Amino acid sequence: MKFTIAFIGFGTVGQGLAEILADRGKWLREEYGFEYSVVAVSDSIKGSVCDPGGLDLPHLLSLVKEKGSINDYPQGDKGWDSLKTIRQSPANTVVEVTYTDLRTGEPALTHIRTALSLGKHVVTSNKGPAALAYRELRDLARQKGVFFKFEGAVMSGTPLLNLALNHLEGARISEVRGILNGTTNFILTQMEKGLSYEEALAEAQRLGYAEAKPDADVEGWDAVAKVLILANLLMNTQLKVEEVSREGITNITPAHIQEAMRKKCRWKLIGSLRREGSQVRAKVAPEKIPLDDILAGVGGITNALTFSTDLLGKVTIVGPGAGRKETGFALLSDLLEISRSVS
Ligand SMILES: NC(=O)c1ccc[n+]([C@@H]2O[C@H](COP(=O)([O-])OP(=O)(O)OC[C@H]3O[C@@H](n4cnc5c(N)ncnc54)[C@H](OP(=O)(O)O)[C@@H]3O)[C@@H](O)[C@H]2O)c1
Repeated sequence: MKFTIAFIGFGTVGQGLAEILADRGKWLREEYGFEYSVVAVSDSIKGSVCDPGGLDLPHLLSLVKEKGSINDYPQGDKGWDSLKTIRQSPANTVVEVTYTDLRTGEPALTHIRTALSLGKHVVTSNKGPAALAYRELRDLARQKGVFFKFEGAVMSGTPLLNLALNHLEGARISEVRGILNGTTNFILTQMEKGLSYEEALAEAQRLGYAEAKPDADVEGWDAVAKVLILANLLMNTQLKVEEVSREGITNITPAHIQEAMRKKCRWKLIGSLRREGSQVRAKVAPEKIPLDDILAGVGGITNALTFSTDLLGKVTIVGPGAGRKETGFALLSDLLEISRSVS
């Protein structure tokens, strides 16, 4: 199968995937038989272009870098919005990389429903649709004989979902708990070095790890989205946002950090899911964990998740939780898996 790809959204992650494809397209073809052509890009600010003959990715990337817009691309149809691009471009695969909205899942939910309904594969790093409407989208994809994949939505390119779904099959997972948000982990790590919460947050913002409005990270919403996705995939239960007990890190003070250190512990923002009889208990909260817990050794922006299984005991995966190349890689790994499955 040759992938004809439409990018919906062309920000950090979209460009990250485009750079990887531009950089190693030849090698991907030779090594994995992965054939692709990017036929459309639609972004609400940077513009849109559709050319069934295929777009020149290095040219598009240099236009975005130099002008912040792809409107000067010399060929193709211009000005199509996201839905027109999904409906009318000849793409058989949609890469959905617009912003995450955990309240409504939009605009990504409509993009993904539309693409799947038209029999197009979808790969995305957007957390909203997988957190809020996983079953509906999974069933729609099955009905249409296409794939809906979202490895990048939890721990970016660290192959957490693939590990759980493909390599822990047959084992029963009773609990998952982990550090699912790099920004808060960075802030807590900086506070251990003596910074106040405000100073650590400012440092995270200066380095580009935290947004100007950091609530999604520091109040725990981003981790809640990931916990919901894990509940959907690993515990076969579609929880609602309000069913996840949530507390962020804004109440953690230097005194809490010092007291934990004296007791050979560390504060971590832990997202967790635990089976309790027929129920699944879901939580995001700061926890004071002992230094011999493997998660206590995971500092800075790194993420980690421990699976508790009946046959294998505890298995922990550690790796990046965000980043342009890292999340671009997650999308590539989804594309390669589809390629393997359909060929
Ligand atoms: N960055 C990471 O490290 C990371 C890691 C894991 C998951 N994610 C998820 O991946 C997704 C993309 O992240 P990102 O960092 O690439 O975000 P981003 O840099 O903000 O890019 C999103 C792009 O989508 C565009 N967009 C918004 N609404 C649109 C619409 N209706 N139609 C077409 N384009 C639209 C935005 O344009 P405007 O500028 O006009 O809004 C923006 O250019 C998000 O859902 C994020 O949560 C990101």
